[in-house]
Amino acid sequence: MDGRLIQGMGKRNVNDEYGNTRMKVTMVMAMTLDGKIARDANHPANWTGKEDKKKFVEITRRAGAMIMGSRTFDTIGRALPGRKNIVMTRNKARKSCGDLIFTDKPPRLILEELSRQGYGEVALIGGTVINSLFAKANLIDEVCVTVVPILFGRGLSLFDLEMDTRLELVDTEVIGEGSLVLRYRVNKDVRDVRGQA
Ligand SMILES: NC(=O)c1ccc[n+]([C@@H]2O[C@H](COP(=O)([O-])OP(=O)(O)OC[C@H]3O[C@@H](n4cnc5c(N)ncnc54)[C@H](OP(=O)(O)O)[C@@H]3O)[C@@H](O)[C@H]2O)c1
Repeated sequence: MDGRLIQGMGKRNVNDEYGNTRMKVTMVMAMTLDGKIARDANHPANWTGKEDKKKFVEITRRAGAMIMGSRTFDTIGRALPGRKNIVMTRNKARKSCGDLIFTDKPPRLILEELSRQGYGEVALIGGTVINSLFAKANLIDEVCVTVVPILFGRGLSLFDLEMDTRLELVDTEVIGEGSLVLRYRVNKDVRDVRGQA
């Protein structure tokens, strides 16, 4: 086991709805002031600013592992170093290599495997489709969104499904370039009572 694995080990586990301990899932995204994460599926996140990128690196390196969709991976164009890059795809032609893992396993199974490998936290880094998959399975524990002072008018949202999920504010931070980082904890109790998925 290398140093990166040890970074993410066992400290940030949470209990799931059955009382079982599982790893913490933190969704990390940048959003325009009008709530968009991209203009379209091919739009790289090159508009979020230097300070947001720094924050992203800090959070994802601390977790040691990231989960993303294949379209997000394609906009990044490469595996990001020093972290496990798990890319969800149904395309069998994509081949895993080292810290770059392509998978079609369901979210819960991916988390179980990471947990077995010693990770205590994973960063869920988009896009809309994969965020929605995890939200539907009630697997997101924390949301960390950088609100960037830019407007797209049209585009993709954080999620693309009907939701009624309540969150509690944990922290706010103004970073350079007029951006605001908002950290929220997902309130699973309220959601469970309402029975929303
Ligand atoms: N602002 C931000 O912070 C931020 C962050 C992330 C992404 N983005 C933007 O979001 C856009 C991409 O988002 P998106 O919603 O279009 O795509 P996405 O969520 O990144 O990826 C969707 C892909 O995931 C795979 N997939 C979907 N469901 C799956 C399942 N059940 N099992 C296995 N694989 C599955 C499919 O890949 P295959 O077609 O290969 O099978 C699908 O095409 C880009 O423009 C990107 O820049 C923005």
